[in-house]
Parts: sequence; C-alpha cells; structure tokens
Amino acid sequence: MPLIMVTGAAGFIGSVVTQALLKEGNEVLSIDNLSRGHRMAISEDTKFFRVSVGDGPAMDKIFETSKIDAVVHLAGLIQVGESVTDPDLYYANNLRDSLTLLESMRRFGVSKMIFSSSAAVYGVPNQVPIAEDHPIAPVNPYGDTKARVESALHWYGEAYGFQSVSLRYFNAAGASGPVGEDHRPETHLIPNAIKAAQGQIDHLSLFGDDYPTPDGTAVRDYVHVEDIAQAHVQALGALGQLPRRAYNVGTGKGYSVREIIDMTGRVCLADVPVQVEPRRAGDPPELVADATALKTDLGWEPKFPTIEKMIQDAFRWHRDHENGYPGG
Ligand code: UFG
Repeated sequence: MPLIMVTGAAGFIGSVVTQALLKEGNEVLSIDNLSRGHRMAISEDTKFFRVSVGDGPAMDKIFETSKIDAVVHLAGLIQVGESVTDPDLYYANNLRDSLTLLESMRRFGVSKMIFSSSAAVYGVPNQVPIAEDHPIAPVNPYGDTKARVESALHWYGEAYGFQSVSLRYFNAAGASGPVGEDHRPETHLIPNAIKAAQGQIDHLSLFGDDYPTPDGTAVRDYVHVEDIAQAHVQALGALGQLPRRAYNVGTGKGYSVREIIDMTGRVCLADVPVQVEPRRAGDPPELVADATALKTDLGWEPKFPTIEKMIQDAFRWHRDHENGYPGG
C-alpha cells in the first residue's frame, strides 16, 4: 500500500485530500503544525505528526522511520492581504520551509511531489479564462512564494530527477462530510456570506462594486473541494507519465460576488445583509481557469460543477458546526 505524506493535513483542502487518498487505498501520514489548521480535521485513519515542515531535523526523523512514496505538499499560509503586510511570514513558511522539505526528501530519496499552488501566480491576468502558459506575474508575496516553489520543483526535476506536478487552485468551496472551511479570522466569501445569512455576523462586507465586470463585483472560479482533492489523487496516480508542469484546477465558469450572495441567500433561505466597502488590496477583477490541460492529460472532470451544490455543502457544514471546529 503506498504511503503518502500530506503536509497541511489539518487545513481545509489538506483534510479533504487526505480523505480522498485514504479512499483510494493509500496509507497517509499527516503533517501539520496546527498554526492555522484544526486537530479535529485530521483523519483518525492516519498517523499524525504535529510538526512544521520547516523543522528539518524532525522531518528527517519521519522520513528515516517511514518509507514515504510521495509527498502532497499543502502546508502554507494562504491570505493574500496578510502576505502584503507580513511578507516575512510568507517567505519563511511558504518558500523557506518548502525548500527545507525538498532537502529532507532528497536526503531520504523521496522524489515525488504534488504541490499546492494557486491562481495567485498569474497576478492580474491579461486574459480570461487563464491558461497555464499565461505569464507568471504575481502581484503579492503569497503568489510569489507559490511561483518560486514551482520553479524550485522544475529545477529539482532537471537536476535530481524529482517528479512533480503543481496544481494551481482557483477558489476552493464546499465541504466534504465532516470536513469544512474554518479559517480564523475568516476572509473567504462563501463562509462569510453564510455567516451573514445565519446572523452570526452583522453583515457581509462586499469589497468593491466598481470593477470592470458585468455587475461591478469581482468574478471568481469556484471549484468544489472534493473535485480539487480528486485532481491530487489523479495527478499522484499519473506522476511519472505526466510532464513536469503546473495545471489549473477550476471549473472554467466565473461567478461574481453578487451572484454568490444571491445564491447563498437562496440556499440558506435567508437574506444576506450586505455593506459595500472599498476594494480589498490585491484583488484582481476576474480569475477564471482554463483547465483544458487537466482534463486532457488526467481525464479530470469536476463532479460538482454547480455553485448551488458548493454553497449547499458549505451551508450544511456551517449549520452543523456553528462555531467551526470544536477545540479551535
Ligand atoms: N469578498 C468579499 N467579502 C468577503 C470576502 C471576499 O466581497 O467577506 C470578495 C473578495 O474581494 C473577492 C471575492 O469575494 O473579490 C472572493 O474572495 P475570497 O477571499 O473568497 O477568495 P480570493 O479569490 O481572494 O482568494 C482565493 C483563495 C485564497 C488565495 C487567492 C489567490 O481563497 O486562499 O485566491 O488568488 F490566496
């Protein structure tokens, strides 16, 4: 049975990826320092190590004692705004620690990685939908750290035979069984719209209604977290046969903030009180994926492409976890 290390296993996407890998018959070793993730999100069916991927000696010990076949590396910080005010955190956690992890892997002969990248590598795109050959031009440290790890993986492939695929997620949404989205503070649109509909927050702050988009609000490509997880399973299965490259993970359909708010109101059967506020720094007007390569090379198709299903699943999770994960 293959043994896969998942870093960031206590995060929203990491915990769903873990479930999907287990379902496929893999063994999973979960790594998370719990700085942002939740202990409760970690599957009981994995061996959990509370450690930072940047702790080289601790990671070496894990690689020494467990025969890891591949690493799915999701650990990292994910807030664009925070990356602009505190770039040191992002270069340390996302770049330096990823390089430390690559070195640990190299020391123990582990050379397969699926890397969690982001649409943020494209910055403000020249055209949408965005294909993977669109220029890489991040406009914030978060996107820059993701782009730099992608580059390191390329050169580790050239020099040391590393096999890797980077998955550039667009906007993860939905929930999966016991696992849902719980960031503290919450900065993402759908969870905040649900909280506003449920009266848990006063109103949803709508950041900018003067974008050059049909209704003036920003457009994003939301993709169900289970479909994102499936892309990891398929990429891992095909590693070796695939070119070393990055793939977009999105549905190819964009929704505006207003459309998300309307759909959330319909799903929650409640009004979403909204207050229009200025644009949030670093938010591009429109990010929509061209995921043709993922479909062609991997046969990936989103199983849950509708925004209604994504918001329904998110709503169900938030309704059942009014205060998020218990125990923080
Ligand atoms: N938005 C609001 N109000 C909110 C939250 C968000 O109006 O309370 C707007 C944002 O301004 C943006 C859109 O809703 O226009 C989507 O915002 P999210 O924060 O949900 O998602 P982002 O597109 O900003 O972020 C996503 C990922 C991040 C990642 C980023 C990279 O969720 O983790 O893409 O581009 F860093």
